[in-house]
Amino acid sequence: KTPLRIGIAGLGTVGAGVLKVLETHADLLEMRSGQRIVVTAVSARSRSRDRGVDLSTVRWYEDAVALASDPDVDVVVELIGGSEGIARDLVVTALENGKHVVTANKALLAHHGNELAALAERRGVALALEAAVAGGIPVIKGLREGLAANAIKEVHGILNGTCNYILTEMRETGREFGDVLAEAQKLGYAESDPSFDIDGVDAAHKLAILTSVAFGCPVDFAAVHIEGIRHISALDIEYAKELGYRIKLLGIARRNNGGVEQRVHPAMVPIDSPIAAVDGVFNAVVADGDFVEKVTFVGRGAGAGPTASAVVADLLDVARGRIAPVFGVPSGRLARIHTASPEER
Ligand code: HSE
Repeated sequence: KTPLRIGIAGLGTVGAGVLKVLETHADLLEMRSGQRIVVTAVSARSRSRDRGVDLSTVRWYEDAVALASDPDVDVVVELIGGSEGIARDLVVTALENGKHVVTANKALLAHHGNELAALAERRGVALALEAAVAGGIPVIKGLREGLAANAIKEVHGILNGTCNYILTEMRETGREFGDVLAEAQKLGYAESDPSFDIDGVDAAHKLAILTSVAFGCPVDFAAVHIEGIRHISALDIEYAKELGYRIKLLGIARRNNGGVEQRVHPAMVPIDSPIAAVDGVFNAVVADGDFVEKVTFVGRGAGAGPTASAVVADLLDVARGRIAPVFGVPSGRLARIHTASPEER
């Protein structure tokens, strides 16, 4: 079988991680998918940076969007980020050109997921998004495939590692929010605009995607109620502790009066619940299905290795010819349930 040819746009932390997984596990991946996966093209700002793998035979693009028209690329891996501009142009062009797309871009999917999914379906290609939600935790596949026999009542979780790290440090050291923020940014998990993390926007992007997969409805980011963690003080955390709770930034999507309510805000979590113990940069997602009941996924929600693990698993799906409906239900059959923020209800 001819190899599956990959073009990677964006060679930052995650892009370098993807190159490393593909090189380390070339034989394992071929054994599992029946197809060799090779990188034929890349686009990145710096050509000279050492990414730990030999890229001398790979075609380089200054203009990332041009990579989407390379005849030697079957799958475009989009790791640029941002809901508009280059990332969006690249993904649209790739799909229009009949190329599969694997992306970690939650902002893009939260804002334009419905149109992009419909476009991918029309072209008969994959738009794979495991890496966009909760990094290395296979929560998209978990919900879409593993729990597909259930009607989901609720999905909630810790969807932002930066906030969870800050809240954990505040609890453990008694320091204030501002002191811990800079430290969290140094870890390299924060968004390029860190207000997306601390104001709950990043978690809301991920929640909007999860809601669509869990409930089979269109993505509706505008309907998510969003509140971040800037106003949480060390004293709030201390009082919560005394009462037997931990403060976590949660994303919650729940069936309610025939619709689905979506919200992101700090919440008091009972200390004996499984997600109370999820600390630091870890993420967690709890799904409650009518037959399976509660299932909890826990793992690393950001970083090179975990996010690359999800990207490469999506590449394997493409190599195996598994082109799942992007959000679990073909676009034309998505449920017209009302997704609303609590204020609207
Ligand atoms: N900024 C995100 C986080 C990265 O801290 O969880 C992963 O999406």
